[in-house]
This record gives sequence, structure tokens and C-alpha cells, in this order.
Amino acid sequence: MKKRPAQMGTVGEAIRLGAQYFDEAGLYFGHGTDNAWDESLSLVLYALSLPWDVDASVQQRELSEAEQTCIASLFDRRVEERLPAAYLTGEAWFAGIPFHVDQRVLVPRSPIAELIESEFVPWLAAEPVHILDLCTGSGCIGIACALYLPQSRVTLSDISAAALAVARQNIDRYDLADRVTAVESDLFAELQQQRFDLIVANPPYVDQEDLADMPAEYHHEPEIGLASGLDGLDFTRRLLVEAADHLTEQGVLIVEVGNSWVALEDAYPEVPFLWLEFARGGHGVFLLTAQQLRDCCATLAAG
Ligand SMILES: C[S@@+](CC[C@H](N)C(=O)[O-])C[C@H]1O[C@@H](n2cnc3c(N)ncnc32)[C@H](O)[C@@H]1O
Repeated sequence: MKKRPAQMGTVGEAIRLGAQYFDEAGLYFGHGTDNAWDESLSLVLYALSLPWDVDASVQQRELSEAEQTCIASLFDRRVEERLPAAYLTGEAWFAGIPFHVDQRVLVPRSPIAELIESEFVPWLAAEPVHILDLCTGSGCIGIACALYLPQSRVTLSDISAAALAVARQNIDRYDLADRVTAVESDLFAELQQQRFDLIVANPPYVDQEDLADMPAEYHHEPEIGLASGLDGLDFTRRLLVEAADHLTEQGVLIVEVGNSWVALEDAYPEVPFLWLEFARGGHGVFLLTAQQLRDCCATLAAG
């Protein structure tokens, strides 16, 4: 690509060349797009400071030499470093909202976005007021909750001070400091006696085998956000034991465990996990009520 930026006469040609380059390079797409064309499009729009919903006629626009060089350099970094596009653009979309991201946080992609967009209907008895986004990373889940549920007060927590710095940038971006707070905490350690109507978490849940097999793109993300022991459940086991003490009487826990859902079902056959389904894809997200967690506390503690 470095040798042929001049071939990109127009925006459309640049997008096509990028897509072809990405396909030939065998890139993996799992961080916001699922194909080479969209990945190329996102980098070209970023290079030209164009919005994602720009009119398709922009494809005819001629590119200056400087623009071509800039685009070629982004394409090269995507291919040579295997950097997810979101880390190159510094932005990722979640639940229809753009978030600042960098390598201190995972690139947002949880199917939980769909639940937020439908304001958790029909899963909660009442609209949640106090919400905890445990393992918040960029803050995407909690901040999206705050924006979709304007009456809510949201706590974002994460063990990583570096991740929380990004989450705070996103709180400021949406001017939410009056309703959203960020707390550095290992699980519930710094949340003391607080109780929440809804605890939602996309914690680390990748097992050792899946971690070893992950495409290069994932190795740019913080490992603390992915790995969770041999069967991927180290964090979730602790969460299941402690969550009931931090939920209100009618509270609900929603947790993503991805492929580790099989190991979770095997580990706790008596726990009535409700596995949620998603129109846009994704799996391995369960719901348990506070009552169910209390009913199963002996099983969960034996863990
Ligand atoms: C899978 S990432 C999710 C980030 C974000 N919620 C999202 O969906 O994009 C998991 C996050 O959990 C955090 N984490 C890992 N262990 C933790 C612990 N013991 N207590 C709190 N947070 C933890 C990591 O720092 C990371 O930001």
C-alpha cells in the first residue's frame, strides 16, 4: 500500500482498495465491523473527518495527495500491526452512541447494547434507578444506560485505574458527572453497602484455550479485560457469590459470559440461569434475579 497511494483517485476507490488489501491480508474483523468493506470505510471516513452517515455521493470526491497518504498510512497500520480500526480512530460505537476508546480499554461490542436500547423491557419489574456497570472499561454500558434511562443514577466500576480514566473522559463527553460516577474497585470491594436495582456486567470471561487461539487483533486489548482463568469463570464465580448483597429486593443481575456459558451451566446445574437472546447476534448473556441468587446462595458459595 505504501508504494501506491496514487491509485486512490477518489473516496470510493480508496474504500475499495482498502477492502481488497484487508481481505488479501487475512485480517480478523471482530471489533465493531464484521467485514473488510466496513472496516475500510470507517478508516477512510475518519481520515477525511467525515461522519458515518455521509451521503454515498461522497464516493465520487477526488482525494488530494495528502489525503491519500494519510489513508494509506492508516491502512498499513491496520494490516502490519493488526490494530483494530477503533484504536486507530480513537472511537467506537455502542448502542448507537460514539465512545472514546484507546488501548487502555476493550473495544465495546457487547450484545448487552440491545438490552439497553430497549430499556431492559421486559426484563425488569420497574425502571431501574440505581444501576451498577461492573467491569466498565470505557464506560460504554453504564453511560449508555444513563442516556437511555434519564432518571437513573449509574456507578461505573473497574479494577483498572487506566480504564477508568477513559470512562471518565466518556462521562465528561456526555456531561453526565451529576448522575454517573466512576469507582476503582476489585469487584465490590470499594462499593461497601451500596445496593442496586440493576447490576450489569461484561466481565473478563475468556478461557485459557480460547485466549491462546485469539486472532492478533485481540492481543492489543488489555488482557485483564479478557482472561479469567482456566475455564473463563474465575471472575463470574466470585460475582455470583457476592452479587445478592448488592442488589435491592427486586434487583436483577445481567452478565455476559460468552462462550463460557457452557462451563457455567456445567458448574451450576441447579442455578436457573435465563439465557437472553439477541436479534443482532451474540450469546452467553444470563439474567438472575436477587431472589434467585439468594435461593441458590449455598450452591453458589460451594462454587
Ligand atoms: C470485557 S472488559 C469489558 C469492558 C466494557 N464493559 C465493555 O463492555 O466494553 C472487562 C473489564 O473488567 C475489568 N476487570 C477485570 N477484573 C476485574 C475485577 N476483579 N474487578 C473489577 N473489574 C475488573 C477490566 O479491567 C476490564 O475493563
